[in-house]
Amino acid sequence: MYNCPMERAYIERLLDVPERSFFLFGPRGVGKTTWLRKMFPGTPFFDLLDSSVYLELSTNPGNLEAMGGDAPEHSWIVIDEIQKIPGLLDEVHRLMETRKWRFALSGSSARKLRRRGTNLLGGRALTRRLDAFSFRELGRDFDMEFSLMWGLLPWVQLDRGNAPDILNSYVHTYIKEEIREEGVVRRLHPFLRFLNVAGQLNGQIVNGQNISREAAVPRSSVDVYFSILVDTLLGYFLPAYRPGVKVREQAHPKFYWFDPGVARAAAGLLFDPVDRVWRSTALETMVYHELRVYNHTRNRNRPIFYYRTGGGVEIDFVVETKKRQHGSPASVVCLEVKAAERWDRRWERAMRSLAGREGIRVERMIGIYGGRRYYRFDGVDVMPVEEFLECLYRGEVF
Ligand SMILES: Nc1ncnc2c1ncn2[C@@H]1O[C@H](COP(=O)(O)OP(=O)(O)O)[C@@H](O)[C@H]1O
Ligand SMILES: [Mg+2]
Repeated sequence: MYNCPMERAYIERLLDVPERSFFLFGPRGVGKTTWLRKMFPGTPFFDLLDSSVYLELSTNPGNLEAMGGDAPEHSWIVIDEIQKIPGLLDEVHRLMETRKWRFALSGSSARKLRRRGTNLLGGRALTRRLDAFSFRELGRDFDMEFSLMWGLLPWVQLDRGNAPDILNSYVHTYIKEEIREEGVVRRLHPFLRFLNVAGQLNGQIVNGQNISREAAVPRSSVDVYFSILVDTLLGYFLPAYRPGVKVREQAHPKFYWFDPGVARAAAGLLFDPVDRVWRSTALETMVYHELRVYNHTRNRNRPIFYYRTGGGVEIDFVVETKKRQHGSPASVVCLEVKAAERWDRRWERAMRSLAGREGIRVERMIGIYGGRRYYRFDGVDVMPVEEFLECLYRGEVF
């Protein structure tokens, strides 16, 4: 379906193979299958998209044991697209106990697995995620301007000349298929209208009522639709940071797509010129993506928020590096992202306002911007995007 004339050598991913059985979740096309094939050479590999494998295992799940042959204890078995046969998890569970096999189970959504009442193996398996390529993985091939415009999906990055067409079919074929499969959306058109609105609202605070009105879909559907996007890892809710429990503060989350290119495709803006606001949101989307990749692959697992002051000024990202406990304040790192080439010192205001609050320790304030120079303004580090990303992956941010 997607041709990649520039098909290149394998691009090393940051994700390590865990020691125990695990689920690998991620949107379609981020490289799950490619990674599994690379990391598990010579391992029994069952691709449930393959109709003969699907047919056999859906009618006779018990055959999985025989298909694993005489693999000794601790051997790996890979099942790709596990959500196609949720019931197979019972068999997997059994084989983990009786044969002590380890399983790598990949899929694009935990939704179906959960829905069937399976408990994701009751904690016997870890959960790992794969995202679109990161700055770090692309290395010298990383192109900031291109990535802001078209995102970081492997298909897009490996065939840059065809980005708009690839993204267009990504949204129109893949998302439709995926959504149909989820089975919760009976009518496609309202969902497509929602996708469009959700694409345009990338990086904004979610207001269900407005979205319902704009997309002309019932308010209750909006929540279901969002939960589908989140469960299929196409998007993330970024919660509001609320340092004081007593204080009433803006509590609605923001919604970010996993990739700026996919957001643009959903919004229907692939063939339109990109304006300043869009570019800025694309940069936030990308920075958030890198924060998640770093957080996950380095096992930091720090919660990430946005912050809105009483006066309505926002900080794009607040990473909580230490939770508040026993009277000692929470610690956070604040990140303000601007695509502009010149830094405007007014953009520091929200960070400084948070730093001035009681009961919170702001470890670092960082401005990330589209310029080339590094500055330090009275406790705020202002750095070019790529320099920031280097610092991030060196472990200097959190
Ligand atoms: N690490 C990688 N190095 C090079 N190309 C990759 C890599 N990961 C994915 N690709 C390319 O992207 C395409 C989609 O990846 P795939 O593994 O099929 O994604 P998924 O299984 O998540 O849907 C692959 O066909 C391949 O061309
Ligand atoms: Mg795959």
